[in-house]
Amino acid sequence: MSTQDWETFKQKFNSKSNINLNDYKPTQMQRRIGNFMNRQGAGGYLEFFNMLNTNPKLYKEFVDYLTINVTEFFRTPEKFAELETKVLPDLLAKNARLNIWSAGCSIGAEPYSLAMILKDMTPGTKHRILATDLDVEMLEKARKAVYTTTEYKNISNARQSKYFKLEGTNYSVSNDIKGLVEFKKHNLLLDAFETGFDLILCRNVVIYFTEEAKDALYRRFLAALKPGGVLFVGGTEAILNFRDIGFEHYLPFFYRKPR
Ligand SMILES: C[S@@+](CC[C@H](N)C(=O)[O-])C[C@H]1O[C@@H](n2cnc3c(N)ncnc32)[C@H](O)[C@@H]1O
Repeated sequence: MSTQDWETFKQKFNSKSNINLNDYKPTQMQRRIGNFMNRQGAGGYLEFFNMLNTNPKLYKEFVDYLTINVTEFFRTPEKFAELETKVLPDLLAKNARLNIWSAGCSIGAEPYSLAMILKDMTPGTKHRILATDLDVEMLEKARKAVYTTTEYKNISNARQSKYFKLEGTNYSVSNDIKGLVEFKKHNLLLDAFETGFDLILCRNVVIYFTEEAKDALYRRFLAALKPGGVLFVGGTEAILNFRDIGFEHYLPFFYRKPR
């Protein structure tokens, strides 16, 4: 397929979706998009763009496919255990009320996991948990907070009974936990960042971002953290050049902004 068509597709898709495919690794993106296009029987990028443009359902399916929304509660449980036993106590020793951002929160399992931990650790304290994603349908599901067995994992028996209710074959999160999280649409590659966070979680979001896009994103996270604040990344997303970016060594997969 021609390079010119790929460039035109990227431009048109960017105008339509605000998703800039230049920020994503080209080989993986072309392979993934190629697979999707072939399944739809599109002969080339331009024909495929026209299909997306005239079929809202297909467009939605494609954006979901590109952004990959898979998630679960307490994802990588050993890292969440470290968050609970080491990182949050360290942060709480400095600030009684924390300002936290779950960036790329998908359907909300991540920020709700955090809300459950904080409610158990500091009952009665109102922390701020901001949770953002570029996908509005995911945010809608996050606000509803009803989960299938795919996401309902790694949850202790105590938390299952305190914070969930069985509804048919699904599990709904209790209102007191729901009320602790504020959901908002936000594109990490485009929109301005708030500042003053004690903790930022950005996990399993940057998988297809280019090295340049990741590097720029991590620098913006650094600027968004308070001195002593921590960035928590996914279990396969160690930041090798964390010192060049300006973070200091803290724990594997947790990076701290110097005080
Ligand atoms: C695999 S999910 C990760 C969910 C959760 N953080 C976890 O670790 O389970 C990735 C999420 O990142 C979101 N995402 C991808 N690119 C994004 C961007 N540029 N800005 C904001 N969110 C993005 C997707 O919509 C998707 O919901």
